[in-house]
Amino acid sequence: MKVTIVAGDGIGPEVTREAMQILDAVGQLNGHRFHFIEMPIGGAAIRQIGTPLPPDTLQAALDSDAVLLGAVGGNEFNALPPSQRPEAGLLQLRHALGGFANLRPSIAYSSLSNNSPLRPEVTDSANILFVRELLGGLYFGEPRSWNRDAGAALNTMRYTRDEVVRVARIAFELARKRRRKLTSVDKANVLEVSQLWRATVIEVAAEYPDIALDHQYVDACAMHLMNTPRNFDVVLTENLFGDILSDEAAVITGSLGMLPSATIGGKVNLYEPVHGSAPDIAGTGKANPLGAILTAAMLLRHSANLEQDAQAIEAAVENVLERGYRTADLARTNQPDQQTVSTREMGKLVFETLNEIIDRRQALHAV
Ligand code: IPM
Ligand code: MN
Repeated sequence: MKVTIVAGDGIGPEVTREAMQILDAVGQLNGHRFHFIEMPIGGAAIRQIGTPLPPDTLQAALDSDAVLLGAVGGNEFNALPPSQRPEAGLLQLRHALGGFANLRPSIAYSSLSNNSPLRPEVTDSANILFVRELLGGLYFGEPRSWNRDAGAALNTMRYTRDEVVRVARIAFELARKRRRKLTSVDKANVLEVSQLWRATVIEVAAEYPDIALDHQYVDACAMHLMNTPRNFDVVLTENLFGDILSDEAAVITGSLGMLPSATIGGKVNLYEPVHGSAPDIAGTGKANPLGAILTAAMLLRHSANLEQDAQAIEAAVENVLERGYRTADLARTNQPDQQTVSTREMGKLVFETLNEIIDRRQALHAV
């Protein structure tokens, strides 16, 4: 498998390195080969080449079987207009790869139940899959502008029926493999775009009579996610709402550093942890690589058809957490049975545990 690596900015390179090591381990143990092509994106690409998505990076991404991204963004670019910022490189890449369904699981790991400010009995066994529409809405809608002289700015929230149908189908299909419950999130009490969204989701629901569908307004949903996270299974929503709600749902897990994502449905799938570039901790060894490592698991699941190995990675992550190892974002004071480890150490612990799990699995098969 050819995997283009766009590690990007801030903690991107350090967490991506751990994810690559995990993919290598799976490759060596199971006879697959991952061929990595490392290319610049975001602020790193602006510094090297002068543009956040250089043509060679785009070409490599389009020519590969999957793309793994770290993070983009840095404070030095904050004054730039949106079209010249590191983030523009990521948005252009998303658009070019064509994946419109961004899957963002948010899972309450039992060993992290005390990391969430929510009480353990609230988060207990919560497991939500956000399906965020990734190529429409305010992020890509035209026209867009900021007229400084007039003191007015404009963005456009636009969706077509077809754009809603295709992402809704993916969400319903995924719900079928889970607890058969789908919550569609909109603002249909105010926005025409949301009325189209809701009407279209209801239309698609006719193809999936086995799935229980409900609708929530985004403001209410933001609250229900914190009050009763266990009531959610699959959450389907538009681009900006999905961006906001998925960060909020990190509270259920205990840290934004835990969240992976996969973007499917286009020419080449794109894999990126949900956390950002965290420039304040870049290079300090404090970054949590588990979001990136769990993203590698999603790559195995959705692009390599290696479900067993994806599950082995997820089991290894859980096991390392159960044994009390924590990166800085997960560390709490006065926990005698916990140990704070660096980015590299956490990656190594998962790597070793994964080796053991796969060894055991192979021993079982040999019997
Ligand atoms: C995310 C990020 C991106 C987004 C930024 C970096 C453009 O916040 O993946 O959630 O807004 O989609
Ligand atoms: Mn975000």
